[in-house]
Amino acid sequence: MCGIVGYIGKKQAAPVLLEGLTKLEYRGYDSAGVAVSDACGKIEIVKAQGKLKELKKKTNDGKSLGGNCGIGHTRWATHGVPNETNAHPHCNDDGTIVAVHNGIIENYAELKAKLIRRGYDFYSQTDTEVATKLVDYYYKKYAEPLKAVSEFALKVRGTYALAVLFADRPEEIYAIRKDSPMVIGTAGGDCFLASDVPALLSYTRDVYYVENFQIAHLKDGKVDFYNLDSERIDVPVTKITWDAKAAEKNGYEHFMLKEIYEQPRVVEDTLNYLVQGGEIDFSELQLRGEALKSVRGIVIVGCGSAYHVGVAMQYVIEDLARMPVRVELASEFRYRNSVLSGEELLIVISQSGETADSIAALREAKERGLKTLAVVNVVGSTIAREADWVLYTKAGPEISVATTKAYSAQLVAGYAIAIKLASVRGTVSAEERRMLVAQLRLLPEKIREILQEPTAIQQFAAETMDRKNAFFIGRGIDYAVSMEGSLKLKEISYIHSEAYAAGELKHGAISLIEDGTLVFGVLTQEGLAEKTISNLEETKSRNAHVAVVATKGIEPPKTCDRIFYIPQTDPHFTASLSVIPLQLYSYYLSVAKGNNVDQPRNLAKSVTVE
Ligand code: AGP
Repeated sequence: MCGIVGYIGKKQAAPVLLEGLTKLEYRGYDSAGVAVSDACGKIEIVKAQGKLKELKKKTNDGKSLGGNCGIGHTRWATHGVPNETNAHPHCNDDGTIVAVHNGIIENYAELKAKLIRRGYDFYSQTDTEVATKLVDYYYKKYAEPLKAVSEFALKVRGTYALAVLFADRPEEIYAIRKDSPMVIGTAGGDCFLASDVPALLSYTRDVYYVENFQIAHLKDGKVDFYNLDSERIDVPVTKITWDAKAAEKNGYEHFMLKEIYEQPRVVEDTLNYLVQGGEIDFSELQLRGEALKSVRGIVIVGCGSAYHVGVAMQYVIEDLARMPVRVELASEFRYRNSVLSGEELLIVISQSGETADSIAALREAKERGLKTLAVVNVVGSTIAREADWVLYTKAGPEISVATTKAYSAQLVAGYAIAIKLASVRGTVSAEERRMLVAQLRLLPEKIREILQEPTAIQQFAAETMDRKNAFFIGRGIDYAVSMEGSLKLKEISYIHSEAYAAGELKHGAISLIEDGTLVFGVLTQEGLAEKTISNLEETKSRNAHVAVVATKGIEPPKTCDRIFYIPQTDPHFTASLSVIPLQLYSYYLSVAKGNNVDQPRNLAKSVTVE
């Protein structure tokens, strides 16, 4: 996700801002920019697409920019492709108000329309330019920064860490946050602001963690805090004890664990993007219902975990929308002479949007005349640019090679597509739709509930770290999750593992079950659980070591060695919950084995080769 920095003090601001942004590079970004103001309040903005080195080149490492007050930004695109125009900082029409923002303004479209009606025009595709001009509108109305910022906060929905420069208030910074992180530090008459601790650590370990709806005013080496009524409030100082590297992970030992724990918010952000007023809303995608009405079938392609999302989607779409769905490995689809009517919709799933096989499958489908919908995490990626429609998952940059939060965001996107298709085809009633969406809204809290209790899973990982082989089995959606659980184990613990449809095990592979073979069963589908339980007992009778992930209310076999319960949810959505214990299990086992969890051997985050 984006990173913001701010500085006022005795030093030249630009080099300090660039250094701070360098410390936030781990957050992932595709463009960057700084704005500095001199003592007269003249504000100069410099932006560059690509990595920070481009911005450093343009500013001679910041030396060419005068002024000792400024703000800076690294952008992870959420609205608008990654280019210089869309890069932050953004400004009002005469450049007298300049802002940087980390987060997502959900109601930016309606705010933009209102501002256009009030005579504003826009140069970028970003929600941040809307935010900046909203502050400008209220500053013109009230001529008071605190009031302008608080009115902004009262009018927007979404998440933000926003820092603002006002030209007529030189050497001051105003900032406010809601749900996106912001820390502020002061040292030796200087003030520092950032999205995260690493950007401040070389100057101070005493920081203020800004809370939601607190407005910070940085000036003359100190920071004052106010509430939305412009009343002064006290914010405690926190002493940072982390080392710089640890702080980049917000105190988590690995990016993978951090990203596992980001899943509740990521699912929430993706739902906020796809659900408006209790209904699935694809207007952001410009994907109208009529375009879906003519679809006569679905072909889903992806690789690795993205493919596993497709397998889960197949069950959900077929059950809700009552239309045929094929799921294919992108690397197979691209070479198969598939029989296609041309009336299918191709859905290509990819976190990076740069996977060579998935790009090739997309191009093959387009050549065959199919309409194409991409489910992608990286804005402006190749797949995002080449598909007819793009549904962006709001997972933010995923650093760990083993995907977790992007997988979860893709699942949610898949549920939304299934409900939208069912709605267009009239295969679910309005009431059923509302119930389904209501259940979706409860997923983040249920994921959070599972994440609160990792100890039992961690212990089980330690107990089973010496296992040489594992099976993950399930039926229906539980089979799809078994695939993901098996891949997670393989790719970061290096233990050989296979996912099997539970009913298929007895057709050969059960010969591999011997004393201590680890078998993970996934039990979330009421109507299928009994069968899978029988399959688990078949393995137990051959002395397998059996663990089960089960929805509360489904009773696993008495003989199994360990049970990890997950909360109930609509049966279509259980993959979002049952995958969590499997992610944690593989993570802890990899740590126990001393593996490089975030960069496992032989793997790349994006497989851009065939
Ligand atoms: C998943 O943990 C792996 N990193 C890998 O299977 C990945 O899902 C696959 O390479 C697809 O990547 P993409 O989503 O970026 O296309």
